[in-house]
Amino acid sequence: MKIGVLTAGGDCPGLNAVVRGVTKSALRRGWKVVGICDGFRGLVEGDFRGLDDTDVSGILVRGGTILGTSNTANPFSYALPPLGSPERPRDLSKLAFRNFRRLGLDALVAIGGDGTLTMANQLYKRGMPVIGVPKTIDNDLSATDVTFGFDSALAVATEAVDRVHTTAESHNRVMIVETMGRYAGWIALRAGLAGGGDIILLPEIPYKAEDIIKAVLERKRRGKKFSIIVVAEGAKPARGGMTVAKVVKGSTDPVRLGGVSYKIAELLDGRVGMETRVVILGHVQRGGQPTPFDRWLATGFGVKAAELVSKKMFGRMVSFRNYGFASVPLSAAVGKLRRVSPSAQEIRTAIGVGTSFGNSGVTG
Ligand code: F6P
Repeated sequence: MKIGVLTAGGDCPGLNAVVRGVTKSALRRGWKVVGICDGFRGLVEGDFRGLDDTDVSGILVRGGTILGTSNTANPFSYALPPLGSPERPRDLSKLAFRNFRRLGLDALVAIGGDGTLTMANQLYKRGMPVIGVPKTIDNDLSATDVTFGFDSALAVATEAVDRVHTTAESHNRVMIVETMGRYAGWIALRAGLAGGGDIILLPEIPYKAEDIIKAVLERKRRGKKFSIIVVAEGAKPARGGMTVAKVVKGSTDPVRLGGVSYKIAELLDGRVGMETRVVILGHVQRGGQPTPFDRWLATGFGVKAAELVSKKMFGRMVSFRNYGFASVPLSAAVGKLRRVSPSAQEIRTAIGVGTSFGNSGVTG
């Protein structure tokens, strides 16, 4: 057996741990492993390298991906370099298949988020033996209870919420911490819960300016001279849309969110009798070492992916369900986002400890 492995989409802590898990357990079976560079770019352009034990040694704890990644390379709509050139993207999936055969691969393990897994499923439907591994700090894939990368991002966001507490308290300020997460509020919700945020704003619960102001003033009335607001980048007002930072041409999901915290700061200005400061965490949430949980989860995913290859269970994605490693058909895993439900237990938990969601209509 000879298997290819690629990492695609935005990077996150734990990618290398999956690559290591797949590679080590493939090598132990006597298989050969080929690392494909920069996601689907390497498959289309034939850019790859062999992976042996020394290549994956010591990478368990390393952030990023030793294989490189791309969030724009799509074999079915491939923009030829330079990116953004006037030439229209083309379907180069035939090249991907040709390189797959030329390399003598028996299977491809594609590690990525919804966009990557959608492409992997398209390749599978056209005959490529593919296994998917779910990755994203956003934790928004519906077919797995958790994705690797999320816990590491959460650790960074929680530390930030912890750290702004002391400076908020010293200055009697409102500190706004903005997390990533795209259209799902998981990072903001859990970091807000774990860090003791006073107000948590999520894409799933549109906020009302008056309710945020009321929550800050209510704290003030109780003698709390500072407030911490944890806001997801996808948070939006009850009447209005999300804050778009930029549009990345050629990306499977071209919209990049960011900057909503400045709008929150503006609406508090002159209304709460306190100064407001904004901290946008951005890509620090995706950088650095994976947490122990993510190393454990990613290793389990990698080994499970090799197991699925050995059983020829192609067209499936490894998943984590009820504290066990499982798998689901790729077709059931893609296109459906897992978002926070406003009636979830953890929303009630937060409300139970006095957290506001900036919307008095939400009671959990
Ligand atoms: O999907 C992961 C993620 O980090 C989102 O939370 C964020 O909105 C987006 O990717 C940022 O993308 P980029 O790395 O292209 O700026």
